[in-house]
Amino acid sequence: MLRLPLGIMSGRLALITSRIMRPDDANIVGNVHGGTVLKMIEEAGCIIGTRHCNTQTGDRCVAALARVERTDFLYPMLIGQVAHVSAEITYTSKHSVEVQVNVVSEDILSGAKKLTNKATLWYVPLSLQNVDKIIEVPPIEYSSPKQEELGKKRYESQKIERVETKERNDDIITPVSLPERKTKEPFTVGFSQSSLIHLIGPSDCTLHGFVHGGVTMKLMDEVAGIVAARHCKTNIVTASVDAINFHRKINKGCVITVSGRMTFTSNKSMEIEVFVDADQLVNAEEGKYRAVTAFFTYISLDTKNKPLPVPPLKVESEAEQKRFEEGKQRYLQNKAKRLADKEQKQ
Ligand code: COA
Repeated sequence: MLRLPLGIMSGRLALITSRIMRPDDANIVGNVHGGTVLKMIEEAGCIIGTRHCNTQTGDRCVAALARVERTDFLYPMLIGQVAHVSAEITYTSKHSVEVQVNVVSEDILSGAKKLTNKATLWYVPLSLQNVDKIIEVPPIEYSSPKQEELGKKRYESQKIERVETKERNDDIITPVSLPERKTKEPFTVGFSQSSLIHLIGPSDCTLHGFVHGGVTMKLMDEVAGIVAARHCKTNIVTASVDAINFHRKINKGCVITVSGRMTFTSNKSMEIEVFVDADQLVNAEEGKYRAVTAFFTYISLDTKNKPLPVPPLKVESEAEQKRFEEGKQRYLQNKAKRLADKEQKQ
């Protein structure tokens, strides 16, 4: 992999990483897996965040992923193309760093380039002497007071949103076994509900013994993809991921259960809620805890990769109906925002 640190650009740290997309980066449709893209985005953010937070004297630290803002997958990335991931620090609060990341695909035969993803991530620096200690972030220089003011607005609005999502954290998704699935009616929530269990090994972790955010996001995308494919039985792709909060660290040796259930279907899209629960095998007294939650949106595709209508979700309980209505609100809000952004660009 080629890493080209660009140093300081317009007063802020920036970085570009590039990598050719290989067959083992593919999803079953043959394009690059949404989870692979999320993993590359997180790696770039972690490098630049850690580099910035170590530009001061005092404790050495590692930047831990705390949050990813809503991310849209604008175009598919193809195997054989080169992914250019550029990251820039755009805001710093006392203890957190905002990183904006762009992913561009390049066809190296024709030279054609496309912006495939844009993401905003928040990192928190943890001391290497004690990863439970959060350290202060050196402030960046802004290109103008307006830039700083806009950054502060983004920081404050995500803080409010975080408090709201914490309320969902008591909910559970019960894993459904294969024989049980056979008795469920197709297109119900229970029919496509899925879980995977994974033991966190050294290759999933930072040098400091806790999971890379990108690894977790890839597993979450995998489960959401299984739920979507079970529901519509066609090829599927990730269209977007709503804001993800990383509430707690997941340490090496934990067993994680990643569970997904469908919450909402529109005419051509499906929303899937994903939970990550961690269980410490060795220090078992801590018990099971909720580490991450997120909503993924998937699209069903025909054999020519054109979006297909989705079978409507059959809701069977009051709780499912409530989640369906909440999903519909998110869908309408996101749609209105996409339209407004489009109009602004024209
Ligand atoms: N998104 C963005 N920033 C966050 C955040 C989130 N989800 N949670 C906390 N922060 C920021 C706060 O705004 C604060 O910065 P400020 O003082 O400048 O406002 C700073 O983190 C510390 O907040 P605090 O409430 O003291 O810390 P915490 O107890 O919530 O711990 C983490 C924050 C990130 C250390 C903790 O949630 C954690 O360990 N998460 C998991 C990190 C991880 O393992 N990442 C890999 C992914 S699996």
